[in-house]
Amino acid sequence: MCGIIGITSARGNVVPLVLEGLRRLEYRGYDSVGVALAGGGGLTIKKAAGRIDDFVRTSGVARLSASTCIGHTRWATHGPPTNVNAHPHTDCSGRVAVVHNGVIRNYASLREELEGRGHRIVSDTDTELVAHLIEEGLSGGLGFLDALARALSRLEGSYALAIIHSREPDRIYFARMRSPLILGLGEGANAVASDIPAVLTVTRRVVVIADGELGWISPWEARLYKLTGNGGYMEVPLEEVEARVKLVEWTPEAASKAGYPHYMIKEIYEQPQAVLDTFNGAVEEEDVERAAEVLASASKILVVGAGTSFHAGLVFTYFASRLAGVMTLPIVASEHKVYTPIVDENTVVVAVSQSGETYDTLESVREWAERGATIIGVTNVVGSSLDRESNITLYIRSGPEIGVAATKTYLSQIILLELLAVRLGEVMGALGRSEASRLLESLSRAPEVTRKAITAMEPLAKADARGDVGGSMYILGRGLGYFLAKEASLKVKEIAYMHAEAYPAGESKHGPIALVTRGFRVYILATSDSPEVAGNAIEMAARGGDVVVVKPSDLSLELGVKARVLDAPPTGGDLVLEPFSLIPYFQLYSYHAAVFRGYDPDKPRNLAKTVTVE
Ligand code: AGP
Repeated sequence: MCGIIGITSARGNVVPLVLEGLRRLEYRGYDSVGVALAGGGGLTIKKAAGRIDDFVRTSGVARLSASTCIGHTRWATHGPPTNVNAHPHTDCSGRVAVVHNGVIRNYASLREELEGRGHRIVSDTDTELVAHLIEEGLSGGLGFLDALARALSRLEGSYALAIIHSREPDRIYFARMRSPLILGLGEGANAVASDIPAVLTVTRRVVVIADGELGWISPWEARLYKLTGNGGYMEVPLEEVEARVKLVEWTPEAASKAGYPHYMIKEIYEQPQAVLDTFNGAVEEEDVERAAEVLASASKILVVGAGTSFHAGLVFTYFASRLAGVMTLPIVASEHKVYTPIVDENTVVVAVSQSGETYDTLESVREWAERGATIIGVTNVVGSSLDRESNITLYIRSGPEIGVAATKTYLSQIILLELLAVRLGEVMGALGRSEASRLLESLSRAPEVTRKAITAMEPLAKADARGDVGGSMYILGRGLGYFLAKEASLKVKEIAYMHAEAYPAGESKHGPIALVTRGFRVYILATSDSPEVAGNAIEMAARGGDVVVVKPSDLSLELGVKARVLDAPPTGGDLVLEPFSLIPYFQLYSYHAAVFRGYDPDKPRNLAKTVTVE
């Protein structure tokens, strides 16, 4: 998964803006980086393996100036992260430069074909083939757009492309198929990029490019077309393009670190506001009501997502059952095929994805929509693929989340999904008006509980993170606590690189307790629906486990053993508040453990913010 950007401007040097955009895209991939500039009758290319700060320091790119420039930050799929494999890639003539996010599945046969016709393919990448295919169209006398459309007709797989041509130095061509791509339409400057934060230095007027669309931008113009097959295309009327313009609320500051050392800690501290904005945005939202009514009439409800979004979906499953008496089936997106046979026109899918671009989640939605399912999307990005492919979209309003770890988007998903469960309970008649009102009042306190949790738990989390020497740990919970433990363990794994296993506390005595010996860390994530979890703490402590109980301060547990108790903010037994009270400790523990060990919490190894490949 990679990040691409292109800016063309009549307002001066765009190279610094492209480099800033690449910094905001680095969470999408960061094993190599590069830029291509148009001007002086040719193209200038600078690229290297490694991260952008090293690239800027060593390549001389910061001394370059151009009015049209494309850039790329890479998460290697085809070919190791080397200078040669870094994007941009060019054709034989060096007149066409391409940056790409996606995977061309028929790469091998295309490469063989092109080399058979004499092309010199110098890298291991699938992307370079696109430049050579365009070159063939140009050499055959086609205009650039025709050559591009012809090249696209040969590609199988996914792509978001930005392309420059030395003979049209003020244009950037683009195309999209199943990899995110947006346009930024400014005044005398236009941009194309993988996502919104990268273009905020140019404009906040954004158009989301749809699959099968292509076009070009210059400083004063933007043209959009739709592929019609076999290299053909038709123009999208300008008035339709204009109608698709959205003014994003995000500001450049929102997409910057704003003085924090890392995006992750900034976004942890932004959680109270994100939860508040999401709640305020949703509590009067008709779409939430509509979604509840659709769910109430479903014969089956599938809840699908990946990673943290899947964990948020589990919390919906919990409250749909507890508050509405409705059964839902939570499904890990990559396992969706197992359940396709049970999907029909009476099935409703709740698809959770903060980016709205996760490949597995989108494939689930597409496969099930083809079988007649109704899709309710829950996402943070207006205009994302999930947004566009859902029958109803419920937006979290957490602002751009740049850190690879999902933090503020997770708690924002929780508040939205809990609200949906309350509305569902009302529609189902399981919740009376007074009970529903009481629950809404509880939910309105979630931002404050979150703020208190961050403030109270950070010193504890930081001390624990610095004190722990690594190794494995269990994070045990029962009921809601188990679903929260799954998210807690993911954070510890992906950010602190420590093996943390979430497990149902009651199940741990059926085998896993065998691992518990003296000093083995066992977190007990205790929620008020399961005070019996105290028994599990006692069992673990009796075997020498280093037991740490994280619980709301007003939840009393009969522990009676040597166990450290971390009191998170009180919740008055309100389960809907307990994710906001208990999760921040684990987010902060993961962050401080990473920093203490010298890892970069914003760019954890092997990970990308959004997994747009299979
Ligand atoms: C969570 O910290 C990870 N970044 C990852 O598991 C993420 O939640 C997952 O890839 C799903 O992303 P999405 O919400 O954009 O679909």
